[in-house]
Amino acid sequence: MKPNWQGPMLTRRQQLAGVAGGLIMGALPSTLHAAGDEPLKDLAARKGILFGTAISAGQSSPMADPGYGAIVARECAVLVPENEMKVYVLGHDPQALNFGPADRIAAFARDNRMKLRGHTLLWNYGKYISPALAETVRATGAEKWLRAYIAQVAGHFGDRIYSWDVVNETIDPKTGEIRDTVFTQALGFDALKIAFEAAQEHAPHAQRVYNDYMSWEVGNETHRAGVLRLLERFRKENVPVDALGIQSHLGNDGSHSKLQRAEWKQFLDRVTAMGYRLLITEFDINDREMPRDIAQRDAQTAAVAKSYLDQMLAYPQLDQLLCWGLWDKHSWLNGFAPRADGLPQRPLPYDDALKPKPLRAAIADALRAAPVRKGIA
Ligand code: G3I
Repeated sequence: MKPNWQGPMLTRRQQLAGVAGGLIMGALPSTLHAAGDEPLKDLAARKGILFGTAISAGQSSPMADPGYGAIVARECAVLVPENEMKVYVLGHDPQALNFGPADRIAAFARDNRMKLRGHTLLWNYGKYISPALAETVRATGAEKWLRAYIAQVAGHFGDRIYSWDVVNETIDPKTGEIRDTVFTQALGFDALKIAFEAAQEHAPHAQRVYNDYMSWEVGNETHRAGVLRLLERFRKENVPVDALGIQSHLGNDGSHSKLQRAEWKQFLDRVTAMGYRLLITEFDINDREMPRDIAQRDAQTAAVAKSYLDQMLAYPQLDQLLCWGLWDKHSWLNGFAPRADGLPQRPLPYDDALKPKPLRAAIADALRAAPVRKGIA
């Protein structure tokens, strides 16, 4: 069956308008196209790209904060739940899953005519598999549990989800090998294969994505090599995987000199040569090692973003760009990677007061400069 996750199809006229708009606007200074001008989703759509963000269903959700809700609705064409489709929220019993929080996000997406991504069916990372879940999986049998769980989750959302992170973060960055979990102890590589096959069976129209956080920064060499080996094996064993989700949590070293642009290009070239499409699934910039001064910090963050997005958006296979939140105030980084000086992180396009930052302008600039592509097809 033909997948239903095609992106925005552009008419010839729209394509020409997009190209011309890019040339004209690209010549203007970034400050002239900060907030109040064209929504990021529209800039992206003109290039055949879906722009969106992760949101949560809790206190920090766009549903709970109308100011944030308006920004999300204006900027985004696609949403992904930050945590609400994870097993620790849905629960361990496939026959009694807690879909409430994810359904609230799905309803917000529907009411605002946005698409919905799913994250994630199998987070094969021991840190996120509780002892209680491991016990349930062992008692049920890993294959039986996995198939039943994916059948229920993918089946519940059906065609509302156009793209699933089927497997998340299964490569250990230190060794480049598949992580050792309750699933791989029982099934080895087949745990991953079963997950993708079950997703194909129960969400036949959705794009199937392998999602991971290997990046272009120094220290990621083993991780990248491991992901390449995994993607090669998927092809060799006919595992139905459509795309690589590149999380893009950037900026840990805060220095351009430590980025490996050439190695990153080799990595992306090898991934696309295997026929995988690409998407940016969790974009944000960790500013922990950047200056205290806010203007300097925001400028560095924007520069890293523009430089990265220019390289990424040059690939016609890349057709989705999702941030991991739009609002600094609720970034996961404040809890997971606090700054030594105690100041809050500023990793996202809108600041604590919901004012657009240079990072938003950098994303807009990169979208304006990107070539037109044929949507996600
Ligand atoms: O909701 C509970 C709350 O009831 C409780 O009081 C509180 C105490 O710790 O925890 C709350 O849950 C936290 C949850 O975020 C919601 O805020 C969890 O402890 C915390 O572990 C969880 O962190 C999430 C993390 O994944 C682990 O699931 C982050 O929000 C989320 O941004 C992060 O997202 C991951 C992607 O899924 C995969 N890629 C990396 C990315 C960043 O780590």
